[in-house]
Amino acid sequence: MSPGRVLVTGGAGFVGSHVCDAYLEAGWDVTAVDNLSTGRAANLSPEVRLVRLDIRDPQLSAAFREGKFDVVNHHAAQASVRESVGNPRHDASVNLDGLLNVVGQSVKYGVQRFVLISSGGVVYGEPGQIPTPRTAPKRPLSPYGVSKLASEYYMLAFSRLYGIGCATLRYSNVYGPRQRAGGEAGVAAIFMDGIRRGESLAVFGGGGQTRDYVFVSDVAAANLVVTGADLPPPDDIDSVAFNVGTEVETSVLELARMAMATVGRTVEVTPARPRDGELERSALDCSETRALGWTPETSLPDGLAQTWESMN
Ligand SMILES: NC(=O)c1ccc[n+]([C@@H]2O[C@H](COP(=O)([O-])OP(=O)(O)OC[C@H]3O[C@@H](n4cnc5c(N)ncnc54)[C@H](O)[C@@H]3O)[C@@H](O)[C@H]2O)c1
Repeated sequence: MSPGRVLVTGGAGFVGSHVCDAYLEAGWDVTAVDNLSTGRAANLSPEVRLVRLDIRDPQLSAAFREGKFDVVNHHAAQASVRESVGNPRHDASVNLDGLLNVVGQSVKYGVQRFVLISSGGVVYGEPGQIPTPRTAPKRPLSPYGVSKLASEYYMLAFSRLYGIGCATLRYSNVYGPRQRAGGEAGVAAIFMDGIRRGESLAVFGGGGQTRDYVFVSDVAAANLVVTGADLPPPDDIDSVAFNVGTEVETSVLELARMAMATVGRTVEVTPARPRDGELERSALDCSETRALGWTPETSLPDGLAQTWESMN
């Protein structure tokens, strides 16, 4: 697809802002819609038009009417597992009611491709196979996981009903510049911030649990790849889903050591009580994403170095 007009929901957030940058670099005209609940206007390049609005707001219609978007890239979400457990109705309101408002407008205004952001860390639950292929059983353990999986089914239904082209990206653990140290998923940012302050690092449940850490620029590149990919109409949710990770497991303790090596300072590591619903292992099989020509290019040490540099 040649560059046109794209709407990035959640574009002022951590990942969304890098996705806006990638579209800009590829020559797209970029609009972001964001209510700035966790995002920051300062994350956005001045070339991005910011519409400050909740994705559930009926006024979204005006943004679509004026924007004439070719592509919608949907990053806005309630993205915290813990928040979803504490307030599942809020999670469903943002992640499902919000999605339905955005998709409804996309169908009404003839959007050609809808890029949906899901989570490989939550839709599969505790995986039986590592790295986890996209066809693995879906066993979400939290309301957030349920709302992400339900979003995928909604998109399948809309794609069949109205012919809107859809691609889903299932991210592993994304890290990199602009990630908030206060955020739940941002363990790399939390560790580096803690090391800088000379604080001890709390490691939940022994630190042996593994995650697949993927650098945010590689994630942004995957968004560009699926935006332009020639995809068949979906048979099921998996046929248009693309895992985005590195296929490599890194334990939380290893990450803590790597973060200390990057910052050049050693702090204490304190064990903390395991958190409910936390996975033991996670790494994604990205074969189908690689088959589209995408590959994660940034090694964990390089990505951590870039993250640390951005914090100073
Ligand atoms: N960071 C990760 O490791 C990771 C992993 C898997 C999936 N994801 C998904 O990626 C997307 C972006 O996550 P992130 O880590 O950048 O989080 P983030 O909190 O930085 O980004 C979310 C953005 O959405 C905006 N937003 C939230 N609710 C909104 C609403 N009702 N209306 C308008 N805007 C709203 C926020 O202000 C923020 O800018 C989310 O869909 C998340 O579920 C992230």
